[in-house]
Amino acid sequence: LLAQVDSSVGGKTAINHPLGKNMIGAFYQPQLVVCDLATLDTLPVRELSAGLAEIIKYGPIADMDFMGWLEDHMDDLLARDRTALAHAVRRSCEIKAWVVGQDEREAGLRAILNFGHTFGHAIEAGMGYGAWLHGEGVGAGMVMAAELSCRLGLVDDAFVARLKVLVQRAGLPLRGAVLDAADNAGRYLELMRVDKKAEAGEIRFVLIDGPGRACVRAAPDALVREVIDACCAG
Ligand code: GLY
Repeated sequence: LLAQVDSSVGGKTAINHPLGKNMIGAFYQPQLVVCDLATLDTLPVRELSAGLAEIIKYGPIADMDFMGWLEDHMDDLLARDRTALAHAVRRSCEIKAWVVGQDEREAGLRAILNFGHTFGHAIEAGMGYGAWLHGEGVGAGMVMAAELSCRLGLVDDAFVARLKVLVQRAGLPLRGAVLDAADNAGRYLELMRVDKKAEAGEIRFVLIDGPGRACVRAAPDALVREVIDACCAG
């Protein structure tokens, strides 16, 4: 499901490096993309949820109507209702194609597709690839990025709460992983500084700049630490 709604469109090919996710790669467009919904019938439930994370992503960054539709149809998607899955896959591909069509090589706009990925990649690398599925890292990462957006005054608490409910309903972990008991936030910051979007060691976060709109910007380390502490606690 994750491949159908994300990696299938846009031509990014990459491999992971112990220092960071997708750090070595190329743009190589496919000649044809086939999304066969029947293949989802045998998808393990954990992988289904991981795919749903990348579907949810498109709401906050680009289409709040789609977010509302997901809230109304999450149970259908989890039940693998073919009509609901068809709409979710089609709309996700449309949004992704709209973004990539304007910025194939990620000079700017395309980076909004990485909402939740800066925190999420830190979780994946910090836990060791494979411990958390990519979509699980993205789910928790979106909640962390929304929380950071809220603390920067870009969205309100109600928006963060709404996203959290949707992520949880998709069967995804809400809380960030603890990467280092002694200095958890420090470990996140260290890993996020080697993120592809970081510039000269400054972490660039994809944040929600009002419902349905994303921006890419830096944030003070102290605030990022607060967000990590709050989201990994408990
Ligand atoms: N998965 C993000 C992108 O293709 O740009």
